[in-house]
Amino acid sequence: MRTGIWLVGARGSVAVTSIVGAAALRTRLVAPTGCVTELPQLRSPALPGWSELVFGGHDIVTTPVLKKADALAAAGVLPGRLVVALADDLATVEHELRPLPAGDTQAGTADRIAADLSDFRDRNGLDRVVVVNVSTTEPVAAPHPAHAGLAALTAALAGPGPVLPPSALVAYAAFTAGCSFIDFTPSTGARLPALAELARRQAVPYAGNDGKTGETLVKSVLAPMFALRNLRVRSWSGLNLLGGGDGANLADPAANAAKVSSKQRVLGDALGYQPEGTSRIDYVAEIGDFKTAWDLITFEGFLGTGMRMEFTWHGCDSALAAPLVLDLARLTAAAHRAGRSGPLPELGFFFKDPLGDGPSALAEQWAALAAFTAGLGS
Ligand SMILES: NC(=O)c1ccc[n+]([C@@H]2O[C@H](COP(=O)([O-])OP(=O)(O)OC[C@H]3O[C@@H](n4cnc5c(N)ncnc54)[C@H](O)[C@@H]3O)[C@@H](O)[C@H]2O)c1
Repeated sequence: MRTGIWLVGARGSVAVTSIVGAAALRTRLVAPTGCVTELPQLRSPALPGWSELVFGGHDIVTTPVLKKADALAAAGVLPGRLVVALADDLATVEHELRPLPAGDTQAGTADRIAADLSDFRDRNGLDRVVVVNVSTTEPVAAPHPAHAGLAALTAALAGPGPVLPPSALVAYAAFTAGCSFIDFTPSTGARLPALAELARRQAVPYAGNDGKTGETLVKSVLAPMFALRNLRVRSWSGLNLLGGGDGANLADPAANAAKVSSKQRVLGDALGYQPEGTSRIDYVAEIGDFKTAWDLITFEGFLGTGMRMEFTWHGCDSALAAPLVLDLARLTAAAHRAGRSGPLPELGFFFKDPLGDGPSALAEQWAALAAFTAGLGS
């Protein structure tokens, strides 16, 4: 199944790490460490193979992919030898990247995005295209009455002024072009009733939101432990120190608010109550893509005895995110082929703020994912 992966934010750290990683896997230069679809329990002939993936994408900057890959190698995010060995593959991807188009109205912009997607599919003889949002996190979007239904949205997009935030406009264009959609960011993406209606009409699946790669991943394992042992968590506070483009953007209070709310949801879901505390994100340019998360948990045991736990996570964000982007694209393309449409709550394993009412504990999410993958056929 020849599958296109169209990256929105294609010249960013997560996107370029995904592009380099997929080429390295195709040419067998690396092992698929970090790709859960390569685990024996999830391996499936229904998923597109590494050699069947074709990359394209939009961005608002023009930094060449090769230059970005060199910068990631210099920062220790990926091995420099891979960038040298894969220079031709990166040049091929460069030809498939486009500047984000703009029309006179948002309807015009959506038409031009959809045209880029259809051209990409036709030019490369692709069976289907998965659009993956890995662009800069947006501030929380203002509500608009046209978000409630597709007819109102279609009419409003043709008028003046913005109706949808950029992530939702991309989801609209993707669905219009018959593509599935994954939101790896905490932005609005497809999470609007009008877009759910469009996805159903176009019979395309979608998944999100916000890749679970670090502090929240650990929370989704530890919080169920406290719940299962009937230990009461009194407070849970986290501090995330992060550089890179994502860190710089999250220094903006509005984008930070979107991220922080998706990081805390897991605690309420897993514990059944919201303990005191919050999760903060601070920008530290010097540490680049290498994030440090430090969490302090205070909890209460038998007879009210107070105890505490701390953990420190040192992760390379793009190296943790890129294999999940590839997993998600393979799984969503296979779900599309299997006739699934609308939200895919079974992919909640991958997200901080999953769609639907699925479980929030990692182990239960894993079981749901394994059952989903087994049901994709061959
Ligand atoms: N790395 C992780 O572990 C992780 C986990 C969860 C979510 N995310 C999210 O993934 C996204 C990407 O992270 P990153 O580290 O690659 O950031 P980055 O800053 O390196 O890359 C973002 C890219 O998006 C581009 N962009 C901005 N607005 C755009 C638009 N409207 N259309 C198209 N492109 C646009 C930017 O020019 C940039 O190239 C962020 O939103 C981040 O919050 C990352």
